Amino acid sequence: MKTTLSLSPAAQFETECLVAVVLDRAEADPSKKSQGAKEKQKSDAYVASEDKAVQQAAADLLSSGDLTGKTFETSWLHKPTGLKAKRLLLIGGGKAKKFAAADLRKLAGAAVRALKARNVHSLAFLAPKGIPAEEAVCAIVEGAFIGDFDSDTYKSDRKDQKMDSVTVIVATGDQSSLQRALDEARIIGESQNFTRDLVNEPSNQMTPTILANRAQAMCKETGLKCEVYGADKIKELKMGAFWGVAQGSDEAPALIVMRYEPAGAPEKPVLGLVGKGITFDTGGISIKPADGMEKMKYDMAGGATMIGVMRAIALLKPKIKVIGIVCATENMPSGKAQKPGDIQTAMSGKTIEIINTDAEGRLVLADGLCYARQLGCTHLIDAATLTGAVVVALGYANAGVFASDDDFYNRFKAAIDKAGEKMWRLPLGDEYLDAMRSSIADLQNTGGRWGGASTAAAFLKEFAEETPWIHLDIAGTAWMEDAKPWIAKGPSGIAVRSLIEFAREFGNL
Ligand code: BES
Ligand code: MN
Ligand code: ZN
Repeated sequence: MKTTLSLSPAAQFETECLVAVVLDRAEADPSKKSQGAKEKQKSDAYVASEDKAVQQAAADLLSSGDLTGKTFETSWLHKPTGLKAKRLLLIGGGKAKKFAAADLRKLAGAAVRALKARNVHSLAFLAPKGIPAEEAVCAIVEGAFIGDFDSDTYKSDRKDQKMDSVTVIVATGDQSSLQRALDEARIIGESQNFTRDLVNEPSNQMTPTILANRAQAMCKETGLKCEVYGADKIKELKMGAFWGVAQGSDEAPALIVMRYEPAGAPEKPVLGLVGKGITFDTGGISIKPADGMEKMKYDMAGGATMIGVMRAIALLKPKIKVIGIVCATENMPSGKAQKPGDIQTAMSGKTIEIINTDAEGRLVLADGLCYARQLGCTHLIDAATLTGAVVVALGYANAGVFASDDDFYNRFKAAIDKAGEKMWRLPLGDEYLDAMRSSIADLQNTGGRWGGASTAAAFLKEFAEETPWIHLDIAGTAWMEDAKPWIAKGPSGIAVRSLIEFAREFGNL
């Protein structure tokens, strides 16, 4: 998808489709509500642009009252008077007062998807007033990439419709800084889709070895150092928890280490990004029910997230060292598989009694986190499709965030908000460890029925130890169960943007 910037008047721009945002400036009237009446609140819709020609073209539609500005409401005009565009797409963004960059990102995705469905492959999006120009450019470009992704890779009649070109039209601003915003947003959007491509693959097309090869190819292209280790090294490093999961599979595991070490970066901090890369989770000997098991191909989403983030970091070049680690393996039952009751010694020396072989993510991450510390990481973030419990707690709307350090959390929270992603902090605490005391080893790998997202996190914290650490449980958010106007069904790429944003800010300390 080509992305370009235009500072010329919208009316003069020749395009298949000009897209403009319509907002509703009417405010909710509380007196109406109290009457309990079904009376519809009247909207007061307007085109969110100073461009007179566009306002003029939309004037009749607006005065007809057909447009309300409701979010994702779309109206089409063909051969709009006074515009060089072949079509004008007016897309609703909701109440003007609440309209923010995160909404704009979704509108851009929705516009791309609506146009693709109609066989239109290029558009020009008019940056709406009310959002600072650079932020708007960024949101529109990211949103367009997100909307452009489809997951039907293996359909033989796949249309493989891609948007060819997206132009962002900005009324005024500094050309070079707007162009920079556009180029950076492009890197971010492409990296998010790179992650989604990895997650979308079924397990027979995305073994640990293939995942490692994809990471290696990406690193080669972007100039990152990449090392991939197999079973021998995992055993040599005494990663007994990781190996305990990997030992049951015929597919070779992979320990993927990606390094971004820019010249002139300070010795510290070193950010460590650790991803769960279970390319298929059967549950192992504690096997999962058949119903829905096919979804466990996305159990490597945390690992794919870190690979996509490292790609963006390599291209955006923040002034900070970052090490990405992915612990990739299948979790299979077999004659070689670990069994409930087995005891594994993790790299850190802690012993773990395996109660349930389906709690495998925390095992591979325990050693991944420990290894990251050994490599000198001063700050750790992991991402994992770790628990069904986080889906019970937060549904599909929010990822779970756990943090051992409030300062670190606050900085990360700022990145989440800037990236327009939804995550919710959940508690950690030694109380959660009590349920994981083993009578025979240091820890058990499960902690009973309740508070499963927090017990899993508390388990991980035992391996992050004193290093400031954040854990993202993306089990409920890494896969879209349904399509939305702005995004296809399938892999979401959750956390990629927040992590990129965080790494960039962290480099500015
Ligand atoms: N990969 C699963 C968690 C998961 C659930 C991811 C739903 C995506 C959607 C994880 O390895 C797992 O099986 N967790 C168990 C832990 C339990 C055995 C303590 C769970 O959540 O049931
Ligand atoms: Mn599992
Ligand atoms: Zn799993």
